[in-house]
Amino acid sequence: MEEIKNKIWAIGGGKGGVGKSLFTLLLGDSLAQLGNKVILVDADLGGSNLHTFAGIRYPKYTLADFIGRRVESMDEVIVDTPINNLKLICGADDILGIANPKFTQKTRLLNHLKNLDADFILLDLGAGVSFTTMDFFLYAPNKIVVLTPQATSIQNGYGFIKASLYRKLHRIFRADPKVLEIIKRSSVSVQGETIDSIAKVYNAIKPLGKDSTGNLIKCLNEINIKLVVNMVRKPKERDVSHIVKSVAKNYLSLEIEDFGVIQYDKILEASVNNMAGFLTKGKDCASRNNFYDIAYNVLKSCRKLIPAKSLVPNTSSVQ
Ligand SMILES: Nc1ncnc2c1ncn2[C@@H]1O[C@H](COP(=O)(O)OP(=O)(O)O)[C@@H](O)[C@H]1O
Ligand SMILES: [Mg+2]
Repeated sequence: MEEIKNKIWAIGGGKGGVGKSLFTLLLGDSLAQLGNKVILVDADLGGSNLHTFAGIRYPKYTLADFIGRRVESMDEVIVDTPINNLKLICGADDILGIANPKFTQKTRLLNHLKNLDADFILLDLGAGVSFTTMDFFLYAPNKIVVLTPQATSIQNGYGFIKASLYRKLHRIFRADPKVLEIIKRSSVSVQGETIDSIAKVYNAIKPLGKDSTGNLIKCLNEINIKLVVNMVRKPKERDVSHIVKSVAKNYLSLEIEDFGVIQYDKILEASVNNMAGFLTKGKDCASRNNFYDIAYNVLKSCRKLIPAKSLVPNTSSVQ
């Protein structure tokens, strides 16, 4: 169990275009460079493009082959990337309707995922709040939400966290109609509604018994979210994480952790059509250390041995 706890990381964020896929690739690359076996999984089932970032035009196998049972084992759909130690499971577009796999297909997928031979499995999630995306997010013991300083990204990032928490609460209390009713009242914005936060849900369900409040607290403790702010152009933009952190604390009773900042980097943007070339020869860019810093945070949070920082190329980070 401890191993799975460290191994699976979901990267979400609610909004498209904030850099989730690029972040997944470059965090995976940094962890691989530091000696870890990494598998990236394109879990954006309706809009997969991680393979294109990794320089693979026509993947031989994708998750659709696994979901459609054309292959039995998930190992068979793993493909190599130009980087040693960094492998990929490609997503597939929604032509076969796999963007919304059935419950049994999802369970089979998640069961196979945890048995893959890797130190880290990074799930690149799609945008939006589809049940499949939230289920991947909730399944992963480690959750990273990527934001940019844009107001819409902050709004969508918070919305994604809130929707995922409520999905988990619905699931936990599905057999308890009285608690569910209170949770439903708190999840919609109704003017004059007195239950508008998880703290108020706690107070409202208190008379229903200790099991209910205990399960609520357990649920909150299990959702362990880390924030990364991407495309930071000015030092003060790194502070946008405080907005999400304080709203999540006040309304959702969630303690969210800062996990790092990535500067806006023209070289990264320009390399997007040739990320494979960038991975093999062009990584001397300004944001490089930002990704290493986050990889160190990943290793630290797993209490893994951290190699000497001097191994990392010395490029400037966001000040
Ligand atoms: N730190 C950054 N600096 C500059 N451009 C970035 C940065 N992060 C991401 N991008 C660019 O933003 C675009 C969207 O990135 P992508 O990873 O596809 O987002 P998402 O997966 O969230 O939809 C890409 O063109 C990518 O090159
Ligand atoms: Mg993406």
